[in-house]
Amino acid sequence: MNDKEYVAKHAANLVKDGMLVGLGTGSTADCFITELARRKNEENLHVTAVSSSIVSMIKAQALNLPMMAVEHLTRLDLYVDGADEVTPDNTLLKGQGADLVKEKILARACDKFIVLVDQSKMVNQIGEKFFIPIEVMPFAWKLVKQQLEKLGGQGSLRPNNNGNGLAVTSYGSLVLDMKFDPQFEISKLDTILNAMPGVIEHGIFYQLADLVLCPVDGKIQETGRR
Ligand code: A5P
Repeated sequence: MNDKEYVAKHAANLVKDGMLVGLGTGSTADCFITELARRKNEENLHVTAVSSSIVSMIKAQALNLPMMAVEHLTRLDLYVDGADEVTPDNTLLKGQGADLVKEKILARACDKFIVLVDQSKMVNQIGEKFFIPIEVMPFAWKLVKQQLEKLGGQGSLRPNNNGNGLAVTSYGSLVLDMKFDPQFEISKLDTILNAMPGVIEHGIFYQLADLVLCPVDGKIQETGRR
């Protein structure tokens, strides 16, 4: 069992009967979906799942997990997802995929947000390894980029995987991948981006994670803010 499977199994064991569970997106969330479905099918665990992306929904449906659409949500017990970076205060960077919007909606809606990572994701500050993804309305990208440059940001529109065009998110938006001065306080940047017209969502998940699970020396290290 690799680290992703190990941490995903640990998280799936935290799911209790009757829970409404949000499913993240990415390779770690994928392992969690597999294990949750195994518990549902082999241990008769009763759960309903809500997916953060089409790809997670397809996987969960294929494994017979009962699903609910985000549109019908009024509450969510648990949301489980991976992250690209985690700082010592459990601020996350997410959004290397194309499903940032639903990911943050579920992370805000849930009673408990559990993040599954391995040690490679641990950083001292957000933006250390990755650009900060900023999802923008296509017609506003240039104006938003100018605003970000005034804040000292540098970056460009994310190219698609083939490198012959632009990456388009699940909701038809474009992504600006930006770097900022490491001295820029991340909570301040979060507040500014939350309020910037034309920005749909961004990859800084500030004070949203309740529990971060990370395998260290064969054990699961848990760090949480409540
Ligand atoms: C998806 O948009 C991302 O936020 C993922 O949650 C993040 O990239 C982690 O993915 P992995 O588990 O594949 O590393």
